This record gives sequence, structure tokens and C-alpha cells, in this order.
Amino acid sequence: MKVAVLGAAGGIGQALSLLLKTQLPAGSELALYDVAPVVPGVAVDLSHIPTAVKVTGHGKDDLGVALTGADIVLIPAGVPRKPGMDRSDLFNINAGIVKTLVEGVAEHCPSACLGIITNPVNTTVAIAAETLKAKGVYDKNKLFGVTTLDVIRAETFVAELKDMDPADVHVPVIGGHSGTTILPLLSQVEGVSFSDDEVASLTTRIQNAGTEVVEAKAGGGSATLSMGQAAARFCLSLAAAMQGENVVEYTYVQIDDGEDADFFAHPVRLGANGVEEILPYGDLSDFEQKAKEDMLEGLRGDIKMGVDFVNG
Ligand code: NAD
Ligand code: LMR
Repeated sequence: MKVAVLGAAGGIGQALSLLLKTQLPAGSELALYDVAPVVPGVAVDLSHIPTAVKVTGHGKDDLGVALTGADIVLIPAGVPRKPGMDRSDLFNINAGIVKTLVEGVAEHCPSACLGIITNPVNTTVAIAAETLKAKGVYDKNKLFGVTTLDVIRAETFVAELKDMDPADVHVPVIGGHSGTTILPLLSQVEGVSFSDDEVASLTTRIQNAGTEVVEAKAGGGSATLSMGQAAARFCLSLAAAMQGENVVEYTYVQIDDGEDADFFAHPVRLGANGVEEILPYGDLSDFEQKAKEDMLEGLRGDIKMGVDFVNG
């Protein structure tokens, strides 16, 4: 198993790479790529941790080497938000970064599974899809928007509110990864019931959790450590599934009927070739149904922006 992290010297990239160095299966290879000159040093630093995962570092002219032979590519490269910004304000810088890196994926490891972390995820995943299509190598089963952070936050907040062990809490989160497009399905949390007020306030807290971190970091960036954990969970699930385990994760993938939107986070059964099966998200409460209907237009607009960016 070779995993490449593009943007590996950043806040997410370093946390994620540390977790992968310590948790990928023995014999795996971890290739770290970044335009920041510190990236070879990050790789050397990690390489002193005694696990059977080989770490290599690759600077800006070395994308091809980092990607060749990769089974999984994770992209957290790009700029994070500052207070007062929406994720969509990152589009102007991050769209081009994602497009260029995905062109590298198309050239050097076209059959790798690709997890997009860079914001705005609602749009950057569409950019990745269109870029891969333009190169003739798009496989919808191998492209994922990483929305796991919404799931782990939802589980943490529910556990806090209900005084439970977070390990026992499972919260489905569907939709996209921005504001009201993030839709936790609290009606489906097993063994817990919520008042209407709790549903309203928890839903808002989960939707605004990224902003909570951005404001607390006061100009120093957005979530990096919790995102590193979330991306590592997603990557390790994908790696396990590619090696035959039965794993389900919530992730933002292409939906063929497009009834909600062309990309939508669903529960997805992962397998040897990425998406094995997109599972239904089940029955929604009236609150969730309305929240879903209200956000679809915005999500579809976010996706269209990505399609238009690549196709002009
Ligand atoms: P950061 O600034 O700490 O790190 C970004 C890294 O990307 C830097 O090391 C930078 O050198 C590198 N980079 C920039 N352009 C590059 C290029 N062309 N090729 C390779 N590397 C490049 O930022 P961060 O806090 O790690 O956040 C990264 C991105 O992840 C942001 O867009 C942020 O909004 C997003 N994010 C997404 C989620 C999510 O849930 N999907 C969560 C948190 C943050
Ligand atoms: C998050 O949810 O923490 C990330 O998308 C970063 C952000 O800008 O909020």
C-alpha cells in the first residue's frame, strides 16, 4: 500500500502523516509532497519513528515521483480560512491548486483512490472529477470528498451532551461540507433521543464547528489536528477495505441519479476498488427533510462552480 499526501508539510498534512506513519499496515509506503521547502525535513523527522512504514519526502519538482505507484492519494494542499471568511472564499486560490495536483494524479497514478480535503470541498471534488474526465481517466468509484470531520465532530458533541463514551456514538452526516449543506441525521442516532431544541442547537453547532475552530485560532488557520485524525480514519478505512475488510464510511461521492445533487455525502461501502456500494441514507425526520430541501440549491451551485472552472 502506497499513500501519497499532497500538502504534507501543512497543519493537516503533518498531523495526518504522523497518524499514517504510526497506523498504516506494516510494509506500507508514505510519500509526502509539498511546495514548502520543509517537506524533506518532515519526512526525515517522521522516518525516525520505529514503524514498518517507509516515509519519503518530495519537493515541488518531484510530484511524479511522489505519485508513481500510489494506491491512495490524499490532498490537503491549499490555503485555510481566516475569521470572517466562508469556505467558498478559498475558491480563487485552492481551485487552481487542486486542478494542478489532480492533473498530476491523472498522469502518474490514474487508478489511485483520491481523497480531497482542500476547501471548498463541495466544489473542489467537482473540479477533481472534471479534471480527471478531461484526462480520460475518471472513475467515479475512486473519488471522495473527505467529510469525516463532520462525523467525528457530531459524535463528540452528541457524546458530550448525553454524557456518553464517544466510541459508542454513531452519527450519520450527509450532504456537503459547508454551512447548512452539512446535515447530521440526529433522528438516526441509536439509543439516544433529543428534544426539538437539542436537535436545532446540535445541528447548528455541527454545521458551524469549522468556524468555531477558525475563530478560536484567531487568524492562525482552521482545524488541523481533528482534521488529521478524521483524514487518517478515512484513509485507514479505505486501506483496510482495499485489503478485503468490510468498511462503511460517510463520504462525498458522485451520485448517479443526481436527485439530491451530483455529489452528496452518503454512507458508502468501501472495497478493493474504492466505492463498492452507495448505501441509502434512510428515513429523514421532518426537520432533516426540510433542512435537506433548503440546502440543495446552494450545494448544486457549489458543484456547478467546480464544473465551470474546469470546462470554462
Ligand atoms: P496549511 O496552510 O497549514 O497547509 C497547506 C499546505 O499546502 C502548506 O504546507 C502549503 O505549502 C501546501 N501547498 C500549497 N500549495 C500547494 C501545491 N500547489 N502543492 C502542494 N502543496 C501545496 O493549511 P491546512 O490547515 O493544512 O488546510 C489545508 C486545506 O484543508 C485548506 O483548504 C482547509 O480549508 C482545508 N480543510 C478541510 C477540511 C475538511 O473537512 N475537508 C478540514 C480542515 C481544513
Ligand atoms: C472545517 O470544517 O474545520 C474545515 O472545513 C475548515 C474550515 O474552514 O472550517
